Amino acid sequence: MEEFLTHVKDGLSRLPKKLSSRYFYDAKGSGLFQQIMQLEEYYLPRCEMQIIQNQSESIAKDISANHSSLQIVELGAGDGTKTKHLLRQFSGHFKQLEYVAMDISPNILAVNKDEIKSGVKSLNHISIAGNYFETYKKLDRARHGRLVMFLGANIGNFHNAEAITFFEFIKKGLTPGDYFLVAFDMVKHPRKILKAYDDSQGITKKFNLNLLERMNRELGADFDISNFEHFPFYNPVTGITSSHIISLKNQTVKFKDGFTVTFAAYEAIHTEISKKYFRSDIEEIAGESKMKIIQTYYDDNKEYAFVLFQPCA
Ligand code: AVJ
Repeated sequence: MEEFLTHVKDGLSRLPKKLSSRYFYDAKGSGLFQQIMQLEEYYLPRCEMQIIQNQSESIAKDISANHSSLQIVELGAGDGTKTKHLLRQFSGHFKQLEYVAMDISPNILAVNKDEIKSGVKSLNHISIAGNYFETYKKLDRARHGRLVMFLGANIGNFHNAEAITFFEFIKKGLTPGDYFLVAFDMVKHPRKILKAYDDSQGITKKFNLNLLERMNRELGADFDISNFEHFPFYNPVTGITSSHIISLKNQTVKFKDGFTVTFAAYEAIHTEISKKYFRSDIEEIAGESKMKIIQTYYDDNKEYAFVLFQPCA
């Protein structure tokens, strides 16, 4: 994969070194992420499911006040197990409902289709595989109202400035009556947050270190995984969890095309941010991208929020 190699060469030549969390999700990484979602310590999916179960009806009502038929576009749709429940609640509120699932993985989209077709009746299901930055641009104008959904707290991989750019990008596919629904993991006790990214079974460690294994597999690198450690930390000032891979000794790693990287003992590769939101962050992102906050739907403990936006006129 040419793009991956270019990215790796750039990221590992920098100081400090970094790799993008985009590359976590190969087949092995996607499997590990499924395991993370089952972890007690990784509270996010349960919060999200609670909102879907308790608030989908309200969300559908709020949107159906403006639209009798709706196209729902989900970015990073995944396996559809959660979205199925949301769509089931929506189906009673719209004359026609079309669901466009966008995901990088064609395999997961096949699962998504089965899951959703079996769970929701009379729904037009469309799968579009690829990087959603590319596929979203190519969407035709919706014949009906459009709701774009970005769930799973995926927005948390962006710094606020990047989130603003992302919102501006999404806006290009929206007309003034359309909606954007985003799931935010809100700030909560710092220890609870840190544990979610440093679980006791070490699944998140495997997930993070899989980036090294992926370079071994796809780029012919010779990383010895046992010489690296997973190290996340949470900063309660910024609300950002940063994940790192730490080199445990001085070492040099070679790639099959001759590219080499040297690591100092205890040097870090930054791999991911997982941002937790203050209400003021969400207001800033909306304000800067010229979107208005229409409604916020919380879980019972207000630890997680679905926020519904519309473009400003
Ligand atoms: C899929 C981006 C929401 O940041 O919480 C889970 C990915 N990384 N454990 C997150 C992840 C480490 C996850 N998101």
